[in-house]
Amino acid sequence: MKIAVIGAGNVGGTLAQRIVEANFADVVLVDIAAGFAAGKSLDLLDARPLLGTEYGIVGTNDFAQIAGADIVVITAGLPRQPGMTREDLLKKNAGIVGEVVDAVKRYAPQALLLLVTNPLDVMTAYALKRSGFSPERVIGMGGVLDSARFANLVAEALRVPPAQVQAMVIGAHGQEMIPLTRLCTVGGVPLPDLLSKEQIAAIAKRTVERGAEIVNLLGKGSAFYAPSAAAFRMVKIMATDQATIVPACAFVDGAYGLHKACIGVPVLLSGSGVEKIIELALDKKELKQLQAAADTVRAALEQL
Ligand code: LAC
Repeated sequence: MKIAVIGAGNVGGTLAQRIVEANFADVVLVDIAAGFAAGKSLDLLDARPLLGTEYGIVGTNDFAQIAGADIVVITAGLPRQPGMTREDLLKKNAGIVGEVVDAVKRYAPQALLLLVTNPLDVMTAYALKRSGFSPERVIGMGGVLDSARFANLVAEALRVPPAQVQAMVIGAHGQEMIPLTRLCTVGGVPLPDLLSKEQIAAIAKRTVERGAEIVNLLGKGSAFYAPSAAAFRMVKIMATDQATIVPACAFVDGAYGLHKACIGVPVLLSGSGVEKIIELALDKKELKQLQAAADTVRAALEQL
């Protein structure tokens, strides 16, 4: 298994670390700043004797090195700064992602493409269009992160282990995120039976704003531990072909009344990418929110 991580910043670097420490794949870490990627890769290699791992990692600015990659994760792009929305990043990051996608087409045309760069849903739609890849091979990481944030906040409120919480967040990775509070369960118990409406609403709101909460505290850059963990989870599912239901940004055509949209929905993810779009029985309000989110993504794509 060979996994290419494009962008050696905080998310890409930490994702590379998680992959090599899990010891199941070789990693190529690519960054336009060659020394930056190479330096991180040497540092990660030096850790192998201490960790008992043996897979390799190469850091480079040469896209030819991704040749034959099974999975390419695109994290390259500018991060959010305080006061910036994910959409502010649209144009700048589309330029970067476009060039990366062209290189993937050239050097790793069989790869599964996982988008992490923001604004996530628009970048996924843009990568799908620009690559010409079949839709099941182009996937965006948003919902896994947002669901983890939601689950973590629920676990804190109830003082239970985070792994007890089953949470699903769909929609866009942004203000139009939809935490499905009524479908959340904790140890098999529906969340509405455990917390008040007000408490649940507060958790949902904080989930939507969690990225900004962290950006504001950091003062420079944005979150990367949970984002890299979310990308790692998706990479691992695809690399090990353990078909798993996760929320992800995927191409939806038909389900949810959507027509050729890229938006966060539950999918069956496996070694072949998005095996299946899962259509939840949403209530009217949730469905409207999802359709509105898809419209916003489409409008941004048209701008590009
Ligand atoms: C976040 C940014 C990375 O949600 O989108 O933290």
